[in-house]
Amino acid sequence: MTKTIFAANWKMNHGPPDAGSFLDRFLDGYQQESGRELWFFPPAVSIQSVAQRVARLPGILVGAQNVYWEPKGAFTGELSVSMAKDAGARAVLVGHSERRHVFGETDDETGRKVRAVLDSAMTPLLCVGETLSERDNGKTLAVIHRQLAVLDGLDGESLARIVIAYEPVWAIGTGKNATPADAGTVHAAIHSWFEKRGVVGGTVPVLYGGSVKPENAQELLSEDEIDGVLVGGASLEPKSWQAICAVGLD
Ligand code: PGA
Repeated sequence: MTKTIFAANWKMNHGPPDAGSFLDRFLDGYQQESGRELWFFPPAVSIQSVAQRVARLPGILVGAQNVYWEPKGAFTGELSVSMAKDAGARAVLVGHSERRHVFGETDDETGRKVRAVLDSAMTPLLCVGETLSERDNGKTLAVIHRQLAVLDGLDGESLARIVIAYEPVWAIGTGKNATPADAGTVHAAIHSWFEKRGVVGGTVPVLYGGSVKPENAQELLSEDEIDGVLVGGASLEPKSWQAICAVGLD
């Protein structure tokens, strides 16, 4: 992989005023570094202001945390892919563990969202990951393969436009992160899933997420199979997010 992706998932935090003050502090002294991209996933109401703010900054991209696959209509509370795109989003988080486990999103729905995002020329960041009991029962790879199976039927060109985040459910927001070696094993399996489908080795970035913080980011990112990080809690404060985004810079 030639680039490293640092993705911030703000979840239900940082509405427009907070997003603005975060960016004031975060961008103060920001310098683009080749080989790394910063992706921000603010809540829907903040997409436009964040996108406008970073529009002229190379290496920074804004995404939506969720979308609905229908183009428009009577779907109260939902956000269409084109609305997200018009607001400035270029990527969409799909199948985040909180969508799956708090809001009951199914694999089928996840697959429809991935296709809707691809159809509108945006990048789906598909999240996969096992629960603690699935892990304890040795089912990690079976779960990951089931979650990836929603991509079956997509052609090689579409598959090559996807980004994956491996986020073990037991590591999200808990302070417990997978060891780099454990994450590396799952990442290798994901990379090989894509290779078996004809996507050239390493084209699809696989990010790690789950309790990434300034203290462990270096160790995780030094694992070969980890192409970037998806960060929740530690991306909410400009200083800790700056520290993570600076990993690997001297
Ligand atoms: P966390 O969240 O960094 O707070 O564990 C990661 C995520 O949910 O994407």
